[in-house]
Amino acid sequence: MDTVATTWGIEDLPRIDLGPESLDQLPARLAAAAVTHGPIFATPANPEIWGDDPTGPRHIVFMVGPEANQFILHTHRDHFSHDLGWTPLVGPLIGKGLLNMDGDEHARHRRLMNPAFTVAYMARYLPIMQRVIATRTAGWAARGEVDLYDEARKITFDVAAEALVGIPTGPQVDHLRDLFYDLFHGYDEARETWEEYALRMVMSQRELNLTLLGEIARRRQSPTDDILGFMVQAHDEDGRELSDEQLLGHVNILLVAGHETTTTLSAWLLYELARHPETLAEVRAEMNIALGDGETLSLESLRGLKALGWAIDETGRFHAPVRNAPRGVVKDFEFAGYTIPAGSQVRYSIGATHRLPTLWREPDRWDPQRFAPPREEQRQHPFAFLPFGAGPRICIGLHFAQVEVKAMAAHILRAYDLTPLDAQPPAEIGFITTVPDRPMRVRVAPRG
Ligand code: HEM
Repeated sequence: MDTVATTWGIEDLPRIDLGPESLDQLPARLAAAAVTHGPIFATPANPEIWGDDPTGPRHIVFMVGPEANQFILHTHRDHFSHDLGWTPLVGPLIGKGLLNMDGDEHARHRRLMNPAFTVAYMARYLPIMQRVIATRTAGWAARGEVDLYDEARKITFDVAAEALVGIPTGPQVDHLRDLFYDLFHGYDEARETWEEYALRMVMSQRELNLTLLGEIARRRQSPTDDILGFMVQAHDEDGRELSDEQLLGHVNILLVAGHETTTTLSAWLLYELARHPETLAEVRAEMNIALGDGETLSLESLRGLKALGWAIDETGRFHAPVRNAPRGVVKDFEFAGYTIPAGSQVRYSIGATHRLPTLWREPDRWDPQRFAPPREEQRQHPFAFLPFGAGPRICIGLHFAQVEVKAMAAHILRAYDLTPLDAQPPAEIGFITTVPDRPMRVRVAPRG
């Protein structure tokens, strides 16, 4: 007798509720849901994003774990659209760039940008990073107390603005940073209605676009050797230049992707090291040997900082700056016994994969040694550890971010002692990327 394989539909998926109160613990909650229900489950779609549109998705489908990641990012990636995933979340704010393109268009544009993101090219950015880091942190000791998150944001935005777009540190960059912050994190329901906020955002967006279009026009007149200059001069296989609108989308997305996530990673790295004196001592001992008293860093000397590398990896696991990445489904697919139809919204969960007890020993503890030999817990599956995504669409800024975070840690940890001022660290909130719910306050003392 023939047996007919039966699969369940999207309506049959286990349901979990993710109210705002669970945001702080989102990765751990999603990991616990995966342990209880299996690697695929659903939550109601957020009406603030999807509105009351009857054709919009009613559920967001979460897929958790290394097999799910491999399915979405590698074996079945043609079933998923980055455009239909990311554009509803970031498109209205910052348009279209590499992050939310699909297919041939994406492949063409990524080929144009790849050369500026290779390991070798990082030698060009390192001096900019070092200068910005030294300038921005020079007054810390005199201030005595800083908000690490806020300071990290200033550094990473200055670096992104200069290295990627060629706008040097100064009032214009400060203003651009504030506009971006307002666009992404500026809604404060105690201060204004959603409609007032939306109107304010349209004004901020217009101002942002006018400023960046001015930079694009200047670069067309006299190209520079930053990434914007590079893209302005680039032609694709058919000899076509990128239009102003295309360049604006890329610049917007590079500036946002290039500083939001690096801010989170570097701020939490410094905060966790300040809370873990033994790891800090190990990291500093290694720096003394690898860097000596040398002020000028090289890519080679940064590569030698293994203990720092494990602390960075552990921070990327525990405080994954991109918690969940969105995809729109373009072809029906079957996973773990469920058939999910085209038109659905899926999230692959980096944060939850990083908290699965099947992969990580004591997953809810910050412990860099898990990355060191002989433990190397990340090696259990090629899609188990993925703070930068994985597969052909892995983060283009991976080397840029790693060099920048190492350069920041090398400078700050050699110059200052940092002591957290609050008994509890801030909570992390956000569905896709995260921000701390309050300042990350530390006391700063110069080192002897
Ligand atoms: C700690 C820092 C960073 C983290 C954790 C991070 C994380 C990620 C992740 C998880 C993705 C994949 C998203 C997906 O699968 O949909 C991604 C893509 C991307 N990231 Fe990053 N990122 C970081 C820094 C940067 C920097 C510094 C830049 C630019 C200078 C950048 C630019 C991009 C772009 C353009 C994409 C889209 C690539 C494509 O789809 O071809 N990121 N990033």
